[in-house]
Amino acid sequence: MEHHMKEISQKEIPWKEDPMMFPIEKAKNILNSNWTGTYTKPSPYLYPHQWNWDSGFIAIGYSRYHQQRAQAEIRSLFNAQWKNGMVPHIVFNPDVLGSYFPEPDFWQVWKSKAAPKEKLTSGITMPPVHATACRSIFENAKDKKEAERFLKEMFPKLKKSHEYFYRYRDPKSEGLVYIRHPWEWGMDNSPIWNQPLESIPLRKDDLPAFTRKDLKKGIPQGQRPTQEDYDRYVWLVDLFRQNAYEEEEIDGECPFKIQDALVNSILNRSNKDLIFIANVIGEDSTEISRWTQKTDRAIQEKLWHEDHGIFDDFDLYGNRMIEVDTASGFLPLYAQSATATQAKRLYRYLESASFCAMHQGNCFSIPNYNMDREEYNPQNYWRGPIWINMNWMLYHGLKFYHFDRKVRSVMIDLLALVRNYGFHEYFDPHQGIGYGTDCFSWTASLYIDTLYDLIE
Ligand code: GLC
Repeated sequence: MEHHMKEISQKEIPWKEDPMMFPIEKAKNILNSNWTGTYTKPSPYLYPHQWNWDSGFIAIGYSRYHQQRAQAEIRSLFNAQWKNGMVPHIVFNPDVLGSYFPEPDFWQVWKSKAAPKEKLTSGITMPPVHATACRSIFENAKDKKEAERFLKEMFPKLKKSHEYFYRYRDPKSEGLVYIRHPWEWGMDNSPIWNQPLESIPLRKDDLPAFTRKDLKKGIPQGQRPTQEDYDRYVWLVDLFRQNAYEEEEIDGECPFKIQDALVNSILNRSNKDLIFIANVIGEDSTEISRWTQKTDRAIQEKLWHEDHGIFDDFDLYGNRMIEVDTASGFLPLYAQSATATQAKRLYRYLESASFCAMHQGNCFSIPNYNMDREEYNPQNYWRGPIWINMNWMLYHGLKFYHFDRKVRSVMIDLLALVRNYGFHEYFDPHQGIGYGTDCFSWTASLYIDTLYDLIE
């Protein structure tokens, strides 16, 4: 494996001479087979419904070669937007209920006044990558007129979804929004949550009965969240439904409220892309600019850890920084929010043995967690493996700050991992081997997007 990576990393990519070198058709076939007619499943079996940020990443891949499908993907998700602007983290497909947990019977979002009547959804949200996806759809569109119509249709919905974050998840108007469930972060069992999850006053007797379905799909327990994690995930959902998903009530009661670097970075990158969209269609962007500047400043000031040289998270309930460094702490590069000085410090950390430096040659970048930490686990979900969406975001962040050698190396690792080991959900940073589910849609779509970047 080591040799493969070196071989590919050190010479120019021979894409033009040998297009078969990178199986782009295979990636497109994966998306085709996960396409349901209205949305794309994240993977064939493990994730049968529509997932929020997955759809954003998937639309970015489609935007390169199938504009209609990219637009349909986003439309389908926003058709389930709540009245308060929240875009749910899952939109359930009524035809395939029964194979996933938790499903609508558990979420019980019908208790909420804001939930849409005609759609089945979960009651939490996810990182808002969709304005960024819509910008890609416009920029890559063959039919610009149609893309402009699409932007006009989407703009109010996208803006409303950002408004939701600022209105309900930033009650003190700090410019930093909070998440109230690890699933909202997309990185379910990250070590960042260890301490905040422990603050949950969980009593087994109060926990509603539930049965996990993820472990029945052939994936070893060691690569998935623990039962203790799941108990807490469920406890939080129970709190939300008991409060009928009323944001103000939940805000008062929830012991898990985190202002984190990932969601705030993705939101602010999307704010910037929303301003771009507003300019294309002649809409006013004053309010979005205000959000953007405030969030840039708040990320720089509140989430920066001067000693560690990385961005960390803030636990609002415990009123303390969570000093756990994961790859999401580099994402202010993607948001274009880090100052030039912070970017240099970030680069130093990212380009160290903790996250697989370029000269090492015995690992792939970018592991999701600091490889020197005791809890680092190269096979367990969000506790070490490489995820293609993180590599993709960091690739773009590094590009913005002109860290050109690293840009190339991250891009090559992204392509090499997928090409050599398959379209998996996550990858072992040492051996490259893919874990989790196979035929994973965002791995396919971001691989496609990166390949197009390379040949253009
Ligand atoms: C897992 C991931 C999450 C993703 C979902 C569907 O829960 O942690 O980020 O959105 O699967 O792919």
